[in-house]
Amino acid sequence: MEQSISFSVNGKSHTVATEPHRPLLDVLREDLGLAGCKFGCGERQCGACTVLMNGRPTFSCVTPVSRAKDRKIETIEGISDGGKLHPVQETFLTEGALQCGYCTTGMIMAAVALLREKPRPDMEEIREAMNRNICRCGTYLRIMRAVERAAKASDGGLSK
Ligand code: FES
Ligand code: FES
Repeated sequence: MEQSISFSVNGKSHTVATEPHRPLLDVLREDLGLAGCKFGCGERQCGACTVLMNGRPTFSCVTPVSRAKDRKIETIEGISDGGKLHPVQETFLTEGALQCGYCTTGMIMAAVALLREKPRPDMEEIREAMNRNICRCGTYLRIMRAVERAAKASDGGLSK
C-alpha cells in the first residue's frame, strides 16, 4: 500500500506517495527526475547508484525509499554550486577519470563523502573509501589521482 514519505533531496523537501519498499534509486530517477544515479547491478556490488544519505555513501538500488524518511539525500545534481562544478567534478575532468561514464556519478559521490570526512586522505585511504565502487572501464588510477587532486585543490576542506 502506498505511503506518503517525506525527505530532503539536494536541500529541497519532497513528499512522494509510493510503495515504501520501492528502491530509493527508482524514486529519485523516475519520480523526481534525478537520473544522475545509475542502475548497475541492483545488488550492492557496483556502486553506480551511490547517493549520500545524511552524508554517508548509500547504495540507492537496495535502499527502500522508506529508509529515506526525514533524511537528507544528496545526488550528483546537487553538488555543483550554481554553474560552477564541484572540485571533485573538476578534477575528474582534468584527470580524464572516466571512459563510458557509467560509474562516474557514484564514484564522485563516494569521493565527496570521503573528502568531507577526511580532507587530506593518502592513497591507501582513497583506495579504501572507493573500493565499493566498480569501474568496468578500469580507470581506477585516474580516479584515484582525481580524488587526490581534489583534496589538494580544496586545500584541506570542501565548502560543499
Ligand atoms: S546498482 Fe546499486 S550497487 Fe550496483
Ligand atoms: S568509466 Fe566506464 S564504468 Fe567507469
